[in-house]
Amino acid sequence: MGTLIKNGTVVNATGSQRADVLIQGEKIAQVAANISNDSHQIVDATNLLVMPGGIDVHTHLDMPFGGTTSADDYTTGTQAAAVGGTTTVIDFSLQNQKSTLQDALETWLKKSDNKACVDFSLHMAVTNLHGKNGEETLHEMEEMVKFGISSFKLFMAYPNVLMINDELMFRVMQKAAKLNGLCLIHAENGSAIDVVVAQMIAEGKTAPHFHALSRSPKAEAEATHRSIALADMAGAAVYIVHLSNEYALDDLKFMQKRGARALAETCTQYLVLSVEDQMPGRSWDEAKFVFTPPLREKRHQAPLWNALNDGSLAVVSTDHCPFRFKDQKELGRNDFTKIPNGGPGIENRLQVLWHFGVNQGRITPEKFVELSCTNPAKIFGMDKQKGSIAPGLDADIMLWDPNANYTITAATQCMATDYNMFEGWTVKGNAAKVFSRGELVVDNTTQPGKFLGKTGRGRFIKREANAGGLA
Ligand code: URP
Ligand code: ZN
Ligand code: ZN
Repeated sequence: MGTLIKNGTVVNATGSQRADVLIQGEKIAQVAANISNDSHQIVDATNLLVMPGGIDVHTHLDMPFGGTTSADDYTTGTQAAAVGGTTTVIDFSLQNQKSTLQDALETWLKKSDNKACVDFSLHMAVTNLHGKNGEETLHEMEEMVKFGISSFKLFMAYPNVLMINDELMFRVMQKAAKLNGLCLIHAENGSAIDVVVAQMIAEGKTAPHFHALSRSPKAEAEATHRSIALADMAGAAVYIVHLSNEYALDDLKFMQKRGARALAETCTQYLVLSVEDQMPGRSWDEAKFVFTPPLREKRHQAPLWNALNDGSLAVVSTDHCPFRFKDQKELGRNDFTKIPNGGPGIENRLQVLWHFGVNQGRITPEKFVELSCTNPAKIFGMDKQKGSIAPGLDADIMLWDPNANYTITAATQCMATDYNMFEGWTVKGNAAKVFSRGELVVDNTTQPGKFLGKTGRGRFIKREANAGGLA
């Protein structure tokens, strides 16, 4: 006996059709019109869209950063993901500059052990190279790929903490090219930004909105261009994370046109929030929106939406890096450089993307699936297991109600922050039911906002090294 989802419209990135979906155990067994009921348990999906569960490839759970630790651990973070329709996350393990990649891997596997509630994987952030010409660490990259970690993150910002210089970055890129891996880049010129930051602090400009003013879109564009050029020289595929503005986009497109193997994501917040609306420089409340890259002027939003449609941006993620307003953002009350950088978003990505994307005619439902699920699976080497509604894949399925009105508020959210970046917004479109590997883990129609599965049921997903799916 299986679970039979009947009367829904199946939406994949490639097209939509009226079809039933049969789940057997953890897998999708059949997708076809009018599958006979037999002795299956029936789930009625009349007026609902049957879509693959979301994949958020950019999260920071239980991560030490900015003098504190991100507020969601693997339990609250993955439960919040599930409630919002996301059934897989890729989190970041960070190499401590003095230690090894293996140490970082062990640390993050411990954080997730018996805690993750949906499936997850890890990127490995390389922050330093050890041994002659970096050989020890570069050799470790081979071990990571064998373990199923095929993407390596390089920070061009946060000097003395996470930033890597061009020489080391280039060596990592050369190694990644040999391994068919993918280099993820936080593209901002951290050294130039730090000069501006020091000058602002010296002038007494300490309020939260100076964080945004200190990090020019041009610093992001410069690093975007430089990293893609270096990757191109090294023969590596790159993926620019959290691309936030039109100038960086122009550089991305320029390099893509030249044939560089470059992909990029943007994040929900850059599509719908702006420095004018959220950070006008009036109050301490604006610390809620201190993340990096910062919010940009509104005029950057339309080019980002267009780039999602023309394919130059391939993914929408969250960069979920939550800190509580009351006791964590407070660390920077008198100095914006001490405000922990990051915002919560894992729970609301799909609602916001649907409401402002599909409802407002900017993207189709198929594009919505492509950006939030299918492309993430392909680019990060797990499309044989996840990312589409198709026989043989994991039964990670979301029944989406395009007519459900939902008011976003921290008062009822699963995320562990005491605020929400979209507080009070009413969106139309929400996950009604969510299945993770065949198990009903969320039913927002009967028990809204509640995770119904067992804590710790999430599994580590080993990913193929496929150079971002780029030939
Ligand atoms: O502000 C952010 N984005 N914090 C998390 C670290 C990063 O740069 O992604
Ligand atoms: Zn970053
Ligand atoms: Zn991030």
